Amino acid sequence: MKTTRRGFFRVLAGTTVLLTGAGCFGRDADPALHIHRATGNRTFGPVGDHARRPFGEPFKDYPDAESVKLDPVTELADIGVASASIAYRLPPGFSQASLGFADLGALLFYANGVTERRDDVSPPKLLRAAPSAGALYASELYVIARNVAELDRGVYYYDVRSHTLARVADAPSDGALADIFDLASPELHAPAYVAVSSVFDRYQWKYANRGYRYALVDTGHIGENLRLASTVLQVRERPLRAFADDSLNRALGLDGAREAVCAVHALGHSAEDSPEFAQRESLHEKGEARGLLGGLKGRATRRFQESTKLHRDGVAPPRPPQSIAVAPPALEEHKLPRAAQALHASLGVAIKQRRSPLEFQPTVISYAQLATLFISMRDRIGHDVTPYIIVHEVEGLARGLYRYEALRHRLSLLDGRDLRDAFALTCIGQEKARTAAVAVVMVGAVGAAMARDGRRAYRDVLVRAGELGQRVYLAAESMGLGARNLAAFRDDPLNELLGLDGEQLAVVHLTMFGQRA
Ligand SMILES: Cc1cc2nc3c(=O)[nH]c(=O)nc-3n(C[C@H](O)[C@H](O)[C@H](O)COP(=O)(O)O)c2cc1C
Repeated sequence: MKTTRRGFFRVLAGTTVLLTGAGCFGRDADPALHIHRATGNRTFGPVGDHARRPFGEPFKDYPDAESVKLDPVTELADIGVASASIAYRLPPGFSQASLGFADLGALLFYANGVTERRDDVSPPKLLRAAPSAGALYASELYVIARNVAELDRGVYYYDVRSHTLARVADAPSDGALADIFDLASPELHAPAYVAVSSVFDRYQWKYANRGYRYALVDTGHIGENLRLASTVLQVRERPLRAFADDSLNRALGLDGAREAVCAVHALGHSAEDSPEFAQRESLHEKGEARGLLGGLKGRATRRFQESTKLHRDGVAPPRPPQSIAVAPPALEEHKLPRAAQALHASLGVAIKQRRSPLEFQPTVISYAQLATLFISMRDRIGHDVTPYIIVHEVEGLARGLYRYEALRHRLSLLDGRDLRDAFALTCIGQEKARTAAVAVVMVGAVGAAMARDGRRAYRDVLVRAGELGQRVYLAAESMGLGARNLAAFRDDPLNELLGLDGEQLAVVHLTMFGQRA
């Protein structure tokens, strides 16, 4: 692994953003990119309104709802995160078989159930399977049960405190669900749907506009737990990205402003694969992005959610002008080993044990551990989010900035300098940014995604970044290492450090990876 160190300015010089079309790449020229700018961290922190007081407990009460006790959660089969991630296959459709009641309970628990109770604080803190910004837990889970064994058809709220379901509404008819989820054929109807919502004010009071990004990133972390746990349980999971916001929120009894659905997972068992399904799949993945422009009142985070909504009314999606972002060129390439390291913990154990370390030891991790991290992430890369890494302490790899090339399973060196100090500065001086072995920086093709799919794509880029972040957490935990999100970075200096323009290509999420102190 030969490495040459070259000047940072060479990378900057090689970084070109080519513009075509109207040449509208101005700071304020592009309303679709406004959300990303408005959720950035500046020198003095996030922008926008902070409420004066914390928003309250991260739970909801439905005192009049019928309560259904879920089965006690059992251990998942002894399958590692890398194997589960490789085994995941997007189902082309679902069979008529019902979803098991125990499976549903286990999936909710492994997605975002309570994995640790801290009694040393008042009120006691219930820590979860997925990380959450400031442990404020903006996300809630709902189930639309169509065909779940031992469970009446209905809409249910997952109460993490008691591991129970509260029946909050009747389930929409199949026709209504087809419309809400844009299901083109009966085979796409799943026996159950899990919706991940965000109660935006739980973040807004502390993080102001930035809270919107965190809500979406959290959604991705939770979704990835759900996806991997379902793979181990041999339940098929299919993300439904093109849902109609208003009708879905209404069906769950949410106002769509204070609390709104950010992601949906269809769950069930697989129907037969067929070429017809495969064709529909590729169309579905592209999504149909239709948003709303302007004229929106209320808190910023609610406006962002509103402006990334989908409607079925044929409103043309707002898109930024077409532009092409060219990523920084590689100075050198490094092959990574293709075999994953033997892991200490299975996926189920990793989810249950996962905790964000408060500190990292500034010790070296091995090249094999780094390769295993990427093997564990590889299949989720490529949907508008690419991991870059800042290497501080990896055996046999020089410090510097690298981009992971998923197709070739290689690292491209972009900047051969020691970036520890400069990087920690962009992370508001957080020591963890200096001491962890590696920073995994999720770079989103924000501008290109929105140019293609409209504003709704902003949500998807952030959710996907969260999904990758969760892979980093689970890979770390499985190898006896630790991971911690550091999403409180300052946008402009970090983008600049990475040679990104900050709009077409921008840092959307950041997770540190290394040895726990
Ligand atoms: C979107 C997001 C952003 C976060 N940003 C930071 C951060 O900037 N600094 C930090 O120390 N921890 C950060 N965290 C980690 C949380 O503080 C941590 O997940 C939370 O305290 C719960 O603890 P646990 O992960 O051990 O369950 C972030 C987590 C998420 C999901």
